[in-house]
Amino acid sequence: MMDLAHPVTSLDPYATDIQGEGRRLRELGRLVPVELIGSVRAWATAHHTVGETIFTHPDFRKDPANWAAYQNGEIPPDWPVLRLILIDSMLNRDDPHHGRLRSLVSKAFTPRRIESLRPRIQEVTNELLHRFTVTAPGQVIDLRAEYAFPLPMQVICEMFGLDHDRRVRLAADYSALHDSRTTSARLQEANCGVEDGIRELIDKKRQNPTDDLTSDLISTHDQHDGRLSSRELSETMVLILFAGHETTQNLITNAARELIEHPYQLAVVRAASGPGWPKAVEETLRRTGPVNTVMFRYASTDILIPGTGVTVRRGEPVVVCVGATGRDPERFGETAEVFDPSRSNAGQHLSFARGAHYCIGAPLGRMMATTA
Ligand code: HEM
Repeated sequence: MMDLAHPVTSLDPYATDIQGEGRRLRELGRLVPVELIGSVRAWATAHHTVGETIFTHPDFRKDPANWAAYQNGEIPPDWPVLRLILIDSMLNRDDPHHGRLRSLVSKAFTPRRIESLRPRIQEVTNELLHRFTVTAPGQVIDLRAEYAFPLPMQVICEMFGLDHDRRVRLAADYSALHDSRTTSARLQEANCGVEDGIRELIDKKRQNPTDDLTSDLISTHDQHDGRLSSRELSETMVLILFAGHETTQNLITNAARELIEHPYQLAVVRAASGPGWPKAVEETLRRTGPVNTVMFRYASTDILIPGTGVTVRRGEPVVVCVGATGRDPERFGETAEVFDPSRSNAGQHLSFARGAHYCIGAPLGRMMATTA
């Protein structure tokens, strides 16, 4: 009988071999106790069906008030993932607060609003590509730094009305916050940098509102009708500003790598009668997803997970290794390891999660990657 007191393996915080780790986890069981960075314990799964159950089960919560180890003071305040888990935004809330916060921004992510961004996304992509045309033959281009990062960065910052200088500073600070190699001094500096940057932006937009998401959120907050507190305003901005950067950047670079490593599939995608770029992006989301693990859900009561024989006890956390669930042969068959954009069920992947917290930016992420 497995329990959290006896982890059977540890998850590599540097994600050096996501797929190898996923295979090992599947061999160990459908849902197994693991150790994370800093010896924090959680249940983990690399099985598609178990992942789906966890994302959609009504008795799992996102609010860390449900995490027993945290509430008992067992998690040190400098645990590197804590900031992400404590961010006071929809990501870490349950209904009714989750629904309230999500509805305040959802109009910025409707299919129509996202479709209206297409020409601008195309324009930014063209500008970035143009720089490559003036690169001397033989000169190396860093696709990640010079293309995959600036595209989502620019598009999302424009949604918020963020100017270039503030954007560059915020990006550097935010990257530092999510790098497990950052020193504690730099961590502190980066935390202040993000908070100051968001505060400055709110002050500026309050004085000069424009047609952007920041001004919309400020106006909701300033109605003082209880829909958005000051802390929620800034934390919602931090969440949306950054939830789409690294993810979309990884999706673009992973797709490029898949297509370079599979030249036959690249030719098929390019052919007029082929599956097309959206399918290549979808297959990348399945096979080499941009997110490795989706962080904690906490059991609000003892939950027996179907098909696993495991009961997750009240207050215990679970992570879903979505970077690996896309290669679960139980769902994607014997060819689960193969990159094949013509695959009919690639879209079943869990890269955008499922259920109430399903990625609100999925249509935007897909559009940016497909355009890129
Ligand atoms: C390809 C790129 C992307 C991937 C793979 C991705 C993945 C995810 C995943 C797995 C979640 C669920 C997290 C959880 O349940 O704990 C999520 C939530 C979220 N994502 Fe994305 N994301 C992407 C792009 C974006 C973009 C472009 C934006 C916005 C500009 C965005 C904004 C959000 C927000 C606000 C949430 C929280 C939703 C909620 O809690 O209700 N994401 N994303």
